[in-house]
Amino acid sequence: KHVAVILGGWSEEREVSLVSGEACAKGLEEKGYEVTRIDLTRDLKETLEALDPKPDVVFNALHGRYGEDGTIQAVLDLLQIPYTHSGLLASAVAMDKPMALRLFRAAGIPTAEGMIVKPEDLGRGDPMPRPYVVKPAREGSSVGVYIVQEGDNGPDYSSWTLGDALVEEFIPGLELTTAVMGDKALAVTELRPLEGFYSYEAKYTDGKTTHLCPAPIPDDVAKRCQDYALRAHRILGCRGVSRADFRYDAAKDRLIILEVNTQPGMTPLSLVPEQAAYKGISFPDLMKWMVENAQC
Ligand code: DAL
Ligand code: MG
Repeated sequence: KHVAVILGGWSEEREVSLVSGEACAKGLEEKGYEVTRIDLTRDLKETLEALDPKPDVVFNALHGRYGEDGTIQAVLDLLQIPYTHSGLLASAVAMDKPMALRLFRAAGIPTAEGMIVKPEDLGRGDPMPRPYVVKPAREGSSVGVYIVQEGDNGPDYSSWTLGDALVEEFIPGLELTTAVMGDKALAVTELRPLEGFYSYEAKYTDGKTTHLCPAPIPDDVAKRCQDYALRAHRILGCRGVSRADFRYDAAKDRLIILEVNTQPGMTPLSLVPEQAAYKGISFPDLMKWMVENAQC
């Protein structure tokens, strides 16, 4: 089979996607697929030309805008080329955190209290009692995420170019994540950043975060993570692999979902490959499963 790995693009997560895409391409080559790498360019014509020697499957290794939000999925639907991960609608809804959170609430999955703040209103006083979290409504990898604590000056929003913000109450406690592969939730990982929070730097710098898989949490909390991750995957209509992120406040036994990532990271420091390995699925086998389950 000929697999085209689409990677890069020009979202805030371009660099992450280049690393994810290269890892995926290598895994696919190990499985004997004929692989071409396509960097998604602003000049769509170039990308369309690269897709013209029709691959059997597109492996989508993009993150963020245009790659994770339904845009490239719509193009591939039109071209009738099967692709990995979620389709247009699930991608678009999952990328818009406030929209996805409404569906999670409707499905009975607990979420944090939150509100949308327009860019022009950022910095005009506290939108809710501190501590709270400010994040772009439609970005990934913790780009533009700030935790505003009691006594802080607060972030400088003067160069904010990330569109609407989602402001949410800060949930103290653990950062947990669960991958879903088809109709199964994999494991639960606890992320312990050595300093601060699980930021972009903590995510992608080797040694800056300890991953505990399986997470040292009570069984019933792990089961809830898996149940919520699977329900969230289903209610959004996700396909293939996704990953749900959570916060857990042990003092209140409160588990809340933050989001579902329809294009979870596949870098050597990423969580989905780690959970698959914990379940006995090697990285190349995971790649193969994704390609063999591609749809459009
Ligand atoms: N947005 C990054 C790639 C992740 O969720 O893993
Ligand atoms: Mg994300």
